[in-house]
Amino acid sequence: MTSTQRDIEVSYDVSNEFFRLWLDENMHYTSASYLRGDETLEEAQQNKARILYEYAEMNEEKTILDVGCGWGANLEYIAQRGCKRADGITLSTAQWEWIRARANPKIRAFVCDYADFEPEEPYDALVSIEMIDHLCSPAQSRQGLAVELYREYFRKLHGWIRPGGLFAFQAILRNRVPRNRKDLEDLRFTADVIFPGGLNPRLEELVMAVNPYWEILELRTQRESYGRTTAEWLRRLRMHEQEIRARWGDRLFEDYDRYLSTCVRAFASHWSSDVQMKLRHIPA
Ligand SMILES: C[S@@+](CC[C@H](N)C(=O)[O-])C[C@H]1O[C@@H](n2cnc3c(N)ncnc32)[C@H](O)[C@@H]1O
Repeated sequence: MTSTQRDIEVSYDVSNEFFRLWLDENMHYTSASYLRGDETLEEAQQNKARILYEYAEMNEEKTILDVGCGWGANLEYIAQRGCKRADGITLSTAQWEWIRARANPKIRAFVCDYADFEPEEPYDALVSIEMIDHLCSPAQSRQGLAVELYREYFRKLHGWIRPGGLFAFQAILRNRVPRNRKDLEDLRFTADVIFPGGLNPRLEELVMAVNPYWEILELRTQRESYGRTTAEWLRRLRMHEQEIRARWGDRLFEDYDRYLSTCVRAFASHWSSDVQMKLRHIPA
């Protein structure tokens, strides 16, 4: 199975206050883009949001849908930089409540599985940041279903946008498999305990799956940026160790410490990477 609503609750509904302690101030839970190298996490997250806003060629007149919008950090950036309306869908009720409480008049959020979503009218642009990583489980990948499942996502989104519209896309990638048992166990722990039901795609699977719906106009990878992002999340998590242990228990702190330490090694060792693509709708 793909990540179910229950799986998503395990990953994202731990507690908004918990994530607030170690993510950036706007709660982006995806790779930032370190372009100079000496930016703060907050600046690097703004870089990411700017790159994707520009891939989508957004402006004041356009509508956009963020598919898998998290706590709405990217929606906030879009609303502040300029759009007619910015909608988002998430499977997490805690994330939806967080967005609703901020009450930005340009933003609407919905708790909805993307598979069931039907837009009121086509959007001018789409963005989706590290949501595809929830769409194929390790078991489905072993059965050879990955490209088919990713293509179904690209097919569905193709039906939600005006002909020729732009889609700013970002995904975590799976590049190599580590060789020693401890590393394999840590990766399996991250997949089973922190992100049940999910698996990072391979770049070549994505390149196959966009066909025949989307033309790849630009593609950039940012493995080192994700290494820095996860290292900074880990540093902030450890800064709040006492508070996290006291409020949510030792187990939660230790699980997240293990998961983020594994991510830092995964990006440093080329097991994982991250990709951003500018995609253009190919009219049917
Ligand atoms: C890693 S988070 C990224 C959140 C956000 N894009 C960001 O950059 O912070 C993945 C998001 O995808 C959403 N998601 C996963 N599977 C989904 C599905 N089938 N339908 C809608 N949203 C989904 C989760 O609820 C979560 O908000």
